[in-house]
Formats: sequence, structure tokens, C-alpha cells
Amino acid sequence: MSSFHLNIRTDGIAVLTFDLPGEKVNKLTTDVMSELDRLLDEIAENHAIKALVIRSGKHDIFIAGADIAEIRDITDTNKGEDLSRKGQSVMGKIESLAFPTVAAIHGPCLGGGLELALACSHRVISNDTRTVLGLPEVKIGILPGFGGTQRLPRLIGLANSLEMILPGKSVHPKKAKKFGLADEVTYQETLLDVAMQVANQAIGKPRPTGIRAKRPFLIRLLESNSLTRALVYRTARKSVLDETRGNYPAPLAALEAVRYGLSHGLVAGYENETRTLGGLVVSDVSKNLINVFYLNEALKKNVTPSQFSVARASVIGAGIMGGGIAQLFAEKGITVRMKDVTPKAVSMGFRTADGIFRKRSKKSILDPLQARDGMDRITGATDASGFGTADLAVEAVVENMEVKKAVLRDFEQAAKDTALFASNTSSLSITELASAAKRPEQVVGMHFFNPVEKMPLVEIVKGQRTSPETVAAIASLSRKIGKLPVVVNDGPGFLVNRILMPYLGEALTMLEEGSGLDEIDQALLRFGMPMGAFILLDEIGIDIAHKVSGILQQGLGTRIKPSQLLEDLYKDGYLGKKNGKGFYLYADGKRGKPNPLVPAMAAKHKDARRPVPEQEIIERAVFLMIKEAALCLEDKIIDRVDLLDAALIFGIGFPPFRGGLMRYAEKLGAKYIVERLEVYKATCGERFAPPKFLFEMSRDDLIGQIIR
Ligand code: NAI
Repeated sequence: MSSFHLNIRTDGIAVLTFDLPGEKVNKLTTDVMSELDRLLDEIAENHAIKALVIRSGKHDIFIAGADIAEIRDITDTNKGEDLSRKGQSVMGKIESLAFPTVAAIHGPCLGGGLELALACSHRVISNDTRTVLGLPEVKIGILPGFGGTQRLPRLIGLANSLEMILPGKSVHPKKAKKFGLADEVTYQETLLDVAMQVANQAIGKPRPTGIRAKRPFLIRLLESNSLTRALVYRTARKSVLDETRGNYPAPLAALEAVRYGLSHGLVAGYENETRTLGGLVVSDVSKNLINVFYLNEALKKNVTPSQFSVARASVIGAGIMGGGIAQLFAEKGITVRMKDVTPKAVSMGFRTADGIFRKRSKKSILDPLQARDGMDRITGATDASGFGTADLAVEAVVENMEVKKAVLRDFEQAAKDTALFASNTSSLSITELASAAKRPEQVVGMHFFNPVEKMPLVEIVKGQRTSPETVAAIASLSRKIGKLPVVVNDGPGFLVNRILMPYLGEALTMLEEGSGLDEIDQALLRFGMPMGAFILLDEIGIDIAHKVSGILQQGLGTRIKPSQLLEDLYKDGYLGKKNGKGFYLYADGKRGKPNPLVPAMAAKHKDARRPVPEQEIIERAVFLMIKEAALCLEDKIIDRVDLLDAALIFGIGFPPFRGGLMRYAEKLGAKYIVERLEVYKATCGERFAPPKFLFEMSRDDLIGQIIR
């Protein structure tokens, strides 16, 4: 079946519609590229055609990019190079058509999709929030290989193109216009008309050349000669290295591809792009990052459909989390009533929500009207008003079982029989909470991560009596509000915090043993964690970490080593970022230097001897996570290793380039991990004792089997 439909109108404007049969999105598969290749030959020879408009036949997407499954399966450098060469050749054919070519873009236009649009002489895009343009290839460890590293800088300038290519960041319509990436921005409804007008006006005129971005004078000057351009490359390289700590080769390779092409010309630039792609596409990092893409898909797919719909929600507790949850619901069209104990606390919730709406509108993720509509959906109260009409309550009050039970009882008293009650608790038992309920089957954990607007994961916790319908309803709600749900069984710390706490606890122990705070954080950052353990403790809040670690100690026993330092900091009023003092010091919410008082406080509790070498810092912290993950599988908190890996990547940012915690364990081998755990057990204590599950795996180094 054909993926393209060509309609040649009587005025000579041909409209090529791309609609990949049987798929929700348009992808540039090998077959699609071959078909397009043949079609372009026909189009080039058809003298009736005076201009070509390329559009998508899908509702809300232009082109998602190349086919990721094909990229995943490439294990031979030559095959990677072939893919790139073929893509470049097809794009080259579009570029050399003798008449104007206009890409009419609505919805995501990504990767190979944008490279196709770049090969066109003009681009007209819709002003819809769904329309985004980007080259996200580095996110799967490769670089744009259909000419994108060459065409983009020549269209929008060096600095602008690096801003898009190196982090793989997409731009929204406003920025696309500013960058000169879009010639026209219009409504979705008038997209095709405007594209045809642009095509019509361009007939007979030369293809526009030169940089079309509006660039400040200084940037134009910097980019104008090779000497000053060197400064741009140096700065970009430094910022990539700061960001990636050398763990991600693709952005640096993409930077070099852009540089090479601009200094050696297009032909050499394309050839170099091809060679670089061939090398990257077979790398471990690329395969791991592609694995992360599939983990994301696995979470999306693992949702049982549900008819339950949430039009109105109560959010009880308007603190950091409550304010964020209210904003998210409201943005997605749900009417929200926030409840807290005092008007001041409610108003804090409004401030949090408003701050997020403003940020999102400033970044053009929402237009100002959408942000205002969103805020208008939130109301506040200090009483039970709104409980009676809510389809769902999410509680985010203080982490205290008795308070949460009282909140649950209050809600149930006023609520509809069908209303669900979800708790955002970080660690308290959902089964116990539900014991206070009239309808325990409608009580569930809905654990968001902080900050709500940024962290993709929602951990859905099944209490012993939570019904499958309730779980399905919350999972499908999570998808509707753009989150990735992972369903887990009840148990201390559920899944993510249970695995995270031993890691944070070990960082505290090593600090008490005499390692420097910065030394530990830097080692973990070099390993690839998104933030150091102490930065994370400050973000979570020392009070919350103290509370959660206490709950885990109660539930899991000596495996969670109590930290006297955490206790002292908590008692002395160190709360972390929220009150400006924790392991680090903060001014206006910005992190400054490590708190100079902490080493002295840690030294008081020095129960061991020495600063710990870097490899040991990483192994002790990360292997305890692997151990706890193995125990979570043993305890059936979760039954799929891929979903466990996904939860840690999307919940706490376990380094994506490592592909997942257990995938990393597989790479090291269970045998090695068990050997090291035994060593640490002998030197540091029983908490390192290898669990049965890992021990059995290690005998034949079988960890791979549980992963597949
Ligand atoms: P917070 O201290 O910022 O907010 C709690 C809010 O609940 C306060 O505004 C307080 O006035 C209100 N509250 C207390 N009793 C109440 C009652 N009876 N009725 C209505 N409101 C009441 O706390 P935060 O950080 O937002 O945490 C809330 C919950 O979310 C906790 O269960 C926490 O464990 C959980 N959580 C926290 C995360 C974090 O990183 N801070 C991450 C994920 C979950």
C-alpha cells in the first residue's frame, strides 16, 4: 500500500500527502524512503508541476522521524552509513527540484521529518501548541544523518542550530519563526491554503538562500568568520561537557559535524555526517538510549483501558506537591478545588500553580490564554465544599498516617459513592490507609515526583483491597495528564523510594566515614546521576527524607542504616532547599557552596576510618540500589524488570545512557556484583549481604535472563 498520495492541481501546484498506512504516526522507514525516492524522480520529470507542497495525512503529526526499530537493529557501521547516504540522497532530490517546495507542518516535525522540511525551499507551520520542530537524534545517541547537521546551521545560523541540535531540543512555533525555520505561521485550519499561497508566490523566483534568523548584531559578528566561530564551538563544547560529563558522545560528535561542514563545505560535510552516524549508531550508549525509548513506550502501553473519567478533582493539601498537582490537573482541563487548613496555605497553593503556568507560558508551551483558562479552573477552600462533586480526591497533606486517615474519612463522608481517593504519600502503607475507608477498593496510591510539572513518572500503588478498576482509572488518568504510570504493590517506600533510600543512606554513611560531601556528589554525577545525593536530599527536604527513612527502617530493618547525621540536621532545623540550609547553602532558592558546618557534624559520628575512593563510592551507593531492586522483584513489588528500570529512569533520573539499573547490572554481570557485595559486607556491614535472587543469578551469570 502506498504511503504517499500526489494530487496535481490545475494551477500546477502539486500536493504530496504523506500518510503511512496502518500507523498512528508518519515515520521515514526504509520502505517509505524508497517510495519517496521513486516519486521524487517522477515529480522532477513532470512538467505540469510548478510547485510542490508536502503535507501530512495524519491528524496531529507531520513526521515523527526515522524508524527507531530500524535504527535499533543496526549493528554494522556500514549499514548505518548506508541509511544516512540514502536519506541524504532523497533529501538532496527534494532540494534540487527545479520549482518551489513548501512543507506544510502541523504537529510534531522531528528528526528526519525536520530534515525533509529543511530540504524544502519554504516551511509553513501551524500555530498550534502541538506543533514542534526539532532534531532530537542525540537523545538516542546518534546525530541527524539526513543532512540536518549541514542544512540547519545554514538556514538559522550557527548558535541557533547548536541550541537545537546539541541538546536535541525542539522549538515551538514562536521560536521557529524567530529562527527563520518557519517562513509563515498560521492557524491549523488555514495551513494548506497559506502553504499554497507561499508556493504560488515563489514560482519563478530563485530558491531563497542565506541565514533567515533574526540574529543580534553580536551573534552575526561572532558567526561571520572562522576565528570568532572557534569561540562559539569552544563555548558549546564546554557547555556540552558540563552537562553530560563526557557520558554522551553524540552531542560532541554533532558539534564536530556542524563545525566540519561549515569549514570544509557541503559535500565533505555530508560525507562526514554519514561516517559519524555510522560510528554512533552501533555504540552501546545509542543502544541503551533506544532501550530507554522502548521503556517509555512500555510504560505507556501497560495501561488497562478505563471508562472512568475525571472532570472534577479535589486536591487536599496545597503545599509543594498539592500546588503542582492542582496545576497539572487544571492544565489538562480538570476543574480543581484545592483544600488546605488555612487561607494562607491555600493561597500558597495558588502561588505555586500560578508560577508553573507562568513559566510554561513564558516557554511557549502554553499560550497566555491557555494559562489563564487553566488558572481559572482552580478554586480554593478550607472546608469540605467541592468534595461532593469531585470524581477524585488526591491528598498531598503532611506525611502522617493519622492525618491522612482523617482526611480520607472527611472526604468519604461528603463524596459521591463512585469517587476515588488517591494518596500522594511517599512511603505510608496504602493498605493501612484504606483500613480507615468505607470503600477501601476505591483507595489507591498516586505518587507523583517532585517537581510535578517536570518528572514524568507516577507510581500507582495497589493496596491489598484496591480494585483493578481503581488502578485502571488512575493509570489512564495519568496518561491523560501526560504522565507515565507504573503500577506497583504496596510495601515500605513502594518501589522507587525503597530503591532510592539505601543509595542516599550510603552516601550519608560515607560522609560520616570521612569522605567529602562534594567528593561524593561529584563521583555520583560523573557516574551519570542527574544530581548528587546531597543535592537530592536538599531538594526532597531533610524533614521528608528523615521521615521516609524512618518508615523504611521500620519496614525493612537494618538494611536501611539509620543516619545520626540526618537526625541531627533535622533536629537542628536544617530542612534543605526550602529553608535555604541543608547540606548546601542557598540564597534566593539558588544553590551555593556546601554547608561548612556539615563536615564537623558528620565527624561527630565518624564510625569508620577513611575517605572512600571514587570507585567504591559509586559501587557502594549503586550496588545497594541493585540489591534493593532485586529484593523488590523477590517481594513482588513489581514483576517486570523492564518496568522497574523505567520507573527509576523516569522517577529519579537514573542515567539513561546506562539503559536502566538492571540493564547496567546485566552489563557488569551478577557474578561481579555479588563478589563486590561480599567484599563490602566484610568491610562495611551486613547491609551489603547479597540477596538470594542475585546470588542465584550469579552462579551462571544469568541476570540477562530475568531482563528478557
Ligand atoms: P508540604 O508541607 O509542602 O505541604 C503539605 C500541606 O498539607 C501543607 O500546606 C499543610 O498545611 C497541608 N495540610 C496538613 N494537614 C492538612 C489537612 N488535614 N487538610 C488539608 N491540608 C492539610 O508537603 P509536600 O512536600 O507537598 O508533601 C505532601 C505529601 O506529598 C506528603 O505525603 C509527602 O510525603 C508527599 N510527597 C512529597 C514529595 C516531595 O518531594 N516533597 C514527593 C512525593 C510525595
